[in-house]
Amino acid sequence: MTTVLLTGGHSGLGRETSKRLAQTYGANLILTGRDRKPLEAFADTLREGFHIAVTPIEMDVASLDSIRAAFQKIEQLAEAGRIEPLSALVLNAGAQFRGPARYSPDGYELTFATNYLGHFLAIQLALPLLAPNARVALTSSGTHDPASLDGKIVGRALPPNALALAHAGKGSTPLPSYGKRYTTSKLCLVMLAYELDRRARESGSNLSSIAFDPGSIPETGLLRTMPKTLQRLGRSGFAKWLMRTAGLTSGNALFSGASLADLALGQRFSRKSAVYLQSNRLSLAEVRSSAISYDENLSRQLWNDSLELVST
Ligand SMILES: NC(=O)c1ccc[n+]([C@@H]2O[C@H](COP(=O)([O-])OP(=O)(O)OC[C@H]3O[C@@H](n4cnc5c(N)ncnc54)[C@H](OP(=O)(O)O)[C@@H]3O)[C@@H](O)[C@H]2O)c1
Repeated sequence: MTTVLLTGGHSGLGRETSKRLAQTYGANLILTGRDRKPLEAFADTLREGFHIAVTPIEMDVASLDSIRAAFQKIEQLAEAGRIEPLSALVLNAGAQFRGPARYSPDGYELTFATNYLGHFLAIQLALPLLAPNARVALTSSGTHDPASLDGKIVGRALPPNALALAHAGKGSTPLPSYGKRYTTSKLCLVMLAYELDRRARESGSNLSSIAFDPGSIPETGLLRTMPKTLQRLGRSGFAKWLMRTAGLTSGNALFSGASLADLALGQRFSRKSAVYLQSNRLSLAEVRSSAISYDENLSRQLWNDSLELVST
C-alpha cells in the first residue's frame, strides 16, 4: 500500500494535493498540521470520499520539539505495523510573516524556521521510515529567483547562510524585509532538494528529491497577513490578468495542487531527481532554478549549518 506524509496538506493548494493523492493514486495519507481540528475534519472528508486510511498527526513545522514528537509517534505507528513505509514526503507547509521580527520556540527567525528548517529536520527524521525509491517533494516558489519578475517583486533572495538567517534581526543585525525572508527560505528549499539528491547518490540510496514552484495563487491562505483590501485586489480577475500579462508565474490551486501529487507519486516523474518543476498557466515543466541554487559548496554549507541548528 502506498503511504504519503504531507505538511500543509489540509488547506490551500495542499488540500488539492491530498485529494489527488487519494483519488488518483489511492494513497493512504499521514496529514500533519499544527491545529488538530481542521486536520481531523479534512481526514474525515478524505476517508468518506476516497475510502483511504488517513492518520492526522499534530506537528508545528516551526517548532523542532513538535517535529521530533510527531516523528516519535509516526515511528511508533510504523513499529506497530499501523502505517507502511513512506512512498513520498510532500513538504508543502509555508507562510509569510509581515511586520516585526518573530522567532520560533527555538529562537530562530520564524520564516526561516517554518518554511525551511522544520522541513530540513523532518527529512532527517523521516529517512529511516522511507520506502525504497521514495520521493521527497519540496514546495518552493518562483520568487526564490532574483532574476525572475516574481523574485524582484517580492524581494530579492539573500545569500543562503543558515546561521545568519536563523538569527536575522537580533542584536545589531537588521531584519530583512518579510519578502526577502520569504524568498530566501524558498531558495534554501531548492538547495536542500539538490543537496539531498547528492547525499542520496553518495550513500547509494535510491531516494529522489524534487523542488516545486506552484506559481502565484492569490486564492490560498498565503496572503492572510496582508491588509484585507490588498488580498481582495490580488484575487480579482483584473489583477490576475495584469500579473499574467506582466510575466509573473501563474498557478492555480487545483492544477498546482494536483501537479504536486503527481510529482510525489506519478510514473512520469519516477526518474526525476534534483530538478525544479514549475506550474505556470496550467502547464507543469522542468525549468532552471536560480543561478546560486546550483552552487554545491553553498548547499553543503547550508546543510551542515542546518544540522548544527537542529542539533542544539
Ligand atoms: N499561494 C501562492 O501564491 C504560492 C506561490 C508559491 C509558493 N507557494 C507555497 O505553497 C505552499 C502552500 O501555500 P498555500 O498557497 O496553499 O498557502 P496556505 O493556504 O496558507 O497553506 C499553507 C499551509 O502551510 C501550513 N502551515 C503554515 N505554518 C505552519 C506551521 N508552523 N506548522 C504547520 N503547518 C503550517 C498551513 O497550515 P494552517 O492551516 O495551520 O495555517 C497551511 O496548511 C507554501 O509553501 C507556499 O509558500 C504558494
